[in-house]
Amino acid sequence: MTDDPYALATEAATALKSAVGVDSFDVALVMGSGWVPAADAIGETIAEIPVTDLPGFLPPAVAGHAGKVRAVRTESGTIALIFLGRTHLYEGRGVDPVVHGVRTAIKAGAGTIVLTNAAGGLRPETQKVGEAVLISDHINLSGASPITGPTFVDLTDVYTPRLRDLAREVDPSLAEGVYVAFRGPTYETPAEVRMCRILGGDMVGMSTVLEAIAAREGGAEVLGISLVTNPGAGLVGEPLNHAEVLEVGRATAARMGVLLSKVVGKL
Ligand code: HPA
Repeated sequence: MTDDPYALATEAATALKSAVGVDSFDVALVMGSGWVPAADAIGETIAEIPVTDLPGFLPPAVAGHAGKVRAVRTESGTIALIFLGRTHLYEGRGVDPVVHGVRTAIKAGAGTIVLTNAAGGLRPETQKVGEAVLISDHINLSGASPITGPTFVDLTDVYTPRLRDLAREVDPSLAEGVYVAFRGPTYETPAEVRMCRILGGDMVGMSTVLEAIAAREGGAEVLGISLVTNPGAGLVGEPLNHAEVLEVGRATAARMGVLLSKVVGKL
């Protein structure tokens, strides 16, 4: 083991490929809160292992995050890697563990990274709870970056337009929006939600942006999809809770699974 995150990702990729018995992966998906039940629709499982069997991964800290990585073969023959849960910045273990899965997937050959999350909707006038929204861009208010030093990565098209077009071919009703990321773990205050709306945000959450940046740094293309699990704090006057987030995920799993499997089938 080493402290170099890229070396650790290379080590994890080698361990992963040998545990699964494949030479390379085509795509990796990160299943956020509420998305894990949708994973079953993506393909036939080749192998599933606890992430902690691989160098550099931490045990899961969040209920509803399974801490496993699954390799599947899709109907079209694509080999996909599915992270059933992720590490968040608010766990306080630094940035490297947050992006280790994405870096490992890229080192294991994945040229496309699909990042899913649960999010608060900032536009309840047009968004419905249980709706999937394509991430068109982000505002990173987490205060962190996975990159240290003068590596000036271009983020003009962090969420690849071609992949968004492809997702809309699968489901023309998909809306797009700007995802605003806070560090968490508190949900936002109503004043922060109002600020995000003024800044041009459409969804708010606690993940995804650091992984998207790491993926772009690593040369992969990114598709981001938020599942709107609640209106942002203060927009409808009800308190927020994690159980509600997971419940919306369970209720929409079949629909989200079909969406993901069709999108992955087109890659
Ligand atoms: N805010 C932040 N993260 C979230 C939310 C929210 O309203 N809903 C689900 N994840």
